[in-house]
Amino acid sequence: MSSDVPKAALIVDKSFVIAEVDKRIYGSFIEHLGRAVYGGIYEPGHASADERGFRNDVKSLVEVLDVPIIRYPGGNFVSGYNWEDGVGPVEQRPKRLELAWRTIELNEVGTNEFMDWAREVGSEVMMAVNLGTRGVDAARNLLEYCNHPGGTYWSDLRRKHGYEKPHKIKTWCLGNEMDGPWQIGQKTAAEYGRLAYETAKAMRLVDPDIELVSCGSSSSAMQTFPEWEAVSLEHTYDVADYVSLHQYYGNRDNDSANFLARTMDLEHFIHTVTSTCDYIKAKKRSKKTMYLSVDEWNVWYHSNDSDAKLEPWTIGPPQLEDIYNFEDALLVGGMLITFLKHADRVKMACLAQLVNVIAPIMTEKGGVSWKQTIFYPYLHASKYGRGVSLQPIVKSPKYDAQDYTDVPYLDSAIVYNEEAEELTIFAINRHLEDELDLTCDIRGFEGYSLTEHIVLHHDDLKAVNSAAGERVLPRRAKGTEYRDGFVTTRLQKASWNVIRLRKS
Ligand code: AHR
Repeated sequence: MSSDVPKAALIVDKSFVIAEVDKRIYGSFIEHLGRAVYGGIYEPGHASADERGFRNDVKSLVEVLDVPIIRYPGGNFVSGYNWEDGVGPVEQRPKRLELAWRTIELNEVGTNEFMDWAREVGSEVMMAVNLGTRGVDAARNLLEYCNHPGGTYWSDLRRKHGYEKPHKIKTWCLGNEMDGPWQIGQKTAAEYGRLAYETAKAMRLVDPDIELVSCGSSSSAMQTFPEWEAVSLEHTYDVADYVSLHQYYGNRDNDSANFLARTMDLEHFIHTVTSTCDYIKAKKRSKKTMYLSVDEWNVWYHSNDSDAKLEPWTIGPPQLEDIYNFEDALLVGGMLITFLKHADRVKMACLAQLVNVIAPIMTEKGGVSWKQTIFYPYLHASKYGRGVSLQPIVKSPKYDAQDYTDVPYLDSAIVYNEEAEELTIFAINRHLEDELDLTCDIRGFEGYSLTEHIVLHHDDLKAVNSAAGERVLPRRAKGTEYRDGFVTTRLQKASWNVIRLRKS
C-alpha cells in the first residue's frame, strides 16, 4: 500500500454484537400512486402478464431482491382510501377521484389482489389504515375482513369474494404521515394520538396478535419534530409496537460531498426518536421498549419539477419517476448501513418505493423492466446483510461538509451470519477524489477466507441506468487480500463495497 493514500481501519469481533438484524429492514413499499400498481406490477395485456394481469418479469425482479415485507396501499393515498372500493367483483368497483395525487383510481387492484401478488413474491404485507378521512370503524372492519376466520359479516364477505382463508396480516400502520399539512385529514399530535389509540384498542380486540405502528414524523425537518413523537406516544405507547420515521434526501444544490454525508442526519433522526421513546417509557414507568420502523426512505428529488407539470385526473401517470444516478446508489447504501448500525432499535424499514415510483425497478409500458442504480446496494444488503450486526471499532479520516462536520470517509457495517458461517463487511468510501486503504482486523474469525469483494463504482457520479442498458453495474474488485486474520484492500474513490468471507 502506498503511503500517501488515506488509511482507515476496522476491528471486528464476534462478541461485539449490536443485535440480530430483523430482516424486515429490507422491506419496501407499493402505493396506489403513479405507475406503481397500474402499469407497474399490474399491466394486463403485457406479454409477461399472468392470468390476473400481474407482470411476471416484475415479480421475478422483486423475488431477486428478496423483499420480506411490503407496505401497502399508501402513503398519502391511504388517507382518502375506502378499502371497500377495492374488494368484490371488479366490474362493480367504483372509479374515484384520488385526492392525494390528483389522479383517477380504478380500484381494479385492491386488498385481495395485492395479497395474492405479495404471497407470490414471498413478501409479508404491512397494511396501512386510513386515519385521515376515516377512523376506528373502517380500520376494525378491514382487519375483520382480512384476519377473522369466518362466521361474521366482514369475514364472510371475504369468503364470498373467494378468499376462504384469512390473510393473517400481522403488521398494521395506524395512518400515514398524519403530521403533514399535505395529508388528507391532517391532525395535531394530540388529535392523532387519541384517534390512533382508540383505533389500536379496537383493532387489538378484533385480533390481539397484530403488531401496530404509530405515526412518527414525516421527516427530521418537520417543525413539529420531535414534539409530535413526545405528544402522540403519550397516547399510543402502550398499544403500539413501533413508531414510524420517514426520510427522503435530495442533492438539489449539487454538493455531492454534503449529499453523501446525509446519513449523519439519519443517525441524528434515529437517535432523537429513540431518546423520545425512552423518555415516554420512563415517564410511563413502562417496561416495554418501543422499536422503530423507517417505513419510507430513499432519495427523492429528481422528478419534482416534471411532477409539477402533470395534468390532474389521469390514470397511472408517470409520477415520482426519479431516474437514479450513481451517487444516489451510494447514499442508499449509506442509509442501509445506518439501519444496520441501529439494528437494536430499527426493526423495519421500507425502501420507498418498489416499482416505477421512486423505485429500484422500472418498467416500460408493453416493454422491458430494468434495474436502477439503487437496485444494487439494496440487493446486496438484503442478500448478505442477514445475521447479527456487529459493532466494529472504526478509524477513518474525516471531512467537513456544508451541513455536517467530522464526516468519516469510511462508512461501514458488519454482519455476521453464524448459521451460514459468513461475515460481510459493507463499506463506502465517501471520498470523491481519493482511494482509501482499508485494513480489517478479523482475527476472531479463525478459519475464514475471502469469498469475494463486490464493488459498485462509476467515474461519473451522475451516471444512470435506463431501459436501453445499465451503465452502473456491480463487479468484482481486484487486489483484496486476506492473510493472518487481516483483510487489506484499497477502496476506490466514491464506491460501495461488499467484502464477503466464509469459513472454509
Ligand atoms: O412515497 C411517496 C410519498 O411520500 C408517500 O405517499 C407519503 O407518505 C410520503 O410523503
